[in-house]
Amino acid sequence: MSEHAPRVMLVTGGAGFIGSNFIRHELQADPGLAIICLDKLTYAGSLDHLDGLPAAPRCRFVQGDVGDRSLVARLLGDDQVDTIVHFAAETHVDRSISDPEAFVRTNVLGTSALLEAARLVWPDPASDGQRRRRFHHVSTDEAYGALGADAPAFTEASAYAPSSPYAASKAGSDHLVRAYHRTYGLPVVISNSANNYGPRQNQEKLIPTVIAACRRRAPIPIYGDGSHRRDWLYVEDHCRALDAVVRSGRTGETYNVGAGEELANLDLARRICAIFDQIRPQDAPHARLIAFVPDRPGHDWRYAIDSSKITRELGWRPRERLESGLRKTIEWFLARPERPAPLDHPQRRRQRLPPAGAIGGPAPSARPDSTRRRWPGGSAWLSSRDGLRLGRRSAAS
Ligand SMILES: NC(=O)c1ccc[n+]([C@@H]2O[C@H](COP(=O)([O-])OP(=O)(O)OC[C@H]3O[C@@H](n4cnc5c(N)ncnc54)[C@H](O)[C@@H]3O)[C@@H](O)[C@H]2O)c1
Repeated sequence: MSEHAPRVMLVTGGAGFIGSNFIRHELQADPGLAIICLDKLTYAGSLDHLDGLPAAPRCRFVQGDVGDRSLVARLLGDDQVDTIVHFAAETHVDRSISDPEAFVRTNVLGTSALLEAARLVWPDPASDGQRRRRFHHVSTDEAYGALGADAPAFTEASAYAPSSPYAASKAGSDHLVRAYHRTYGLPVVISNSANNYGPRQNQEKLIPTVIAACRRRAPIPIYGDGSHRRDWLYVEDHCRALDAVVRSGRTGETYNVGAGEELANLDLARRICAIFDQIRPQDAPHARLIAFVPDRPGHDWRYAIDSSKITRELGWRPRERLESGLRKTIEWFLARPERPAPLDHPQRRRQRLPPAGAIGGPAPSARPDSTRRRWPGGSAWLSSRDGLRLGRRSAAS
């Protein structure tokens, strides 16, 4: 175990699903920590996800691209960042099939720019200063490819065999991160996690899609025959795992993170429907909404991940069971106004799903334009061009 005590953390992609949950988790867990959230605010990012966070200097938002090396280098240097936790990525497999180059740009070239900035700005690997730095790359079990029915779960020693452009771009970035450790001594750690679910997940991912469909009494799209199997990890459990790896993981090591909650997509949808049957018995049975749609090309049949290394070395274990995690997630979404999936939602395009509300229920309210929001604490949101200047001013306020 190598102990690391972050003081100033750069969280990339922190306005997305896992990143925003992680920022909340870290600010609560460590009162002495300051966080800079760097996010481009693509369709997947929203300032709403950062609502209620403390203002600068504890937490500050900079809108910008991880691929903008000079912006990142200035942030690392001016703010004396000692820890990078890198979430920023294009993450939706369906989108990677329709626009693979966007995934190469952000996931491979963006990670490359971030690594290069850290190499150039952080002290020489031989010096003491480097030992107080850490680059945590957040990756996915999808880099390992698909498993057969009886194959053992992926371990950290499993070979990479990605199927989708998303998984291939994440695998490429993982290799780059390892190469920067081996070649330049950059103090990196990598985590590969199972499918996450929980509050603030983007509407177009599977669990929010099922919840939104139940809510609107609209068709629930399930790929193929619904037999694809996934291990489902509650996002708060993932955040605790990331915290353990960033603070106590061994430099240069990879840690797999899964919940051991493996089940078929169809069974997952049925479980969500069963919870909706209890919450809204007047609409039961919600399972009648399940609609099978043509399978996604290159769809991996099964993922399962062996988390014994992180349990053995860092004492991490998942706490949330799927049933209670799903209930919390559903309650979180139901407590908020409904948001339509983006108009260019790949599932909507490819499968010609009926529009929201087709079976019944109210039309969804329009999504607020998050880029016009103001940052909590009064400082304006920042663009990559003026981010550094305004950022420093808000940090001093
Ligand atoms: N969601 C999962 O189930 C899961 C599982 C394993 C690993 N991961 C990994 O965790 C990370 C976060 O996933 P997520 O589900 O929160 O993703 P997300 O799509 O919800 O959020 C991604 C965030 O990155 C930002 N972003 C995209 N391109 C950017 C760029 N070029 N520069 C700066 N910001 C940019 C987006 O605006 C968004 O806020 C990703 O690296 C993903 O590969 C996710």
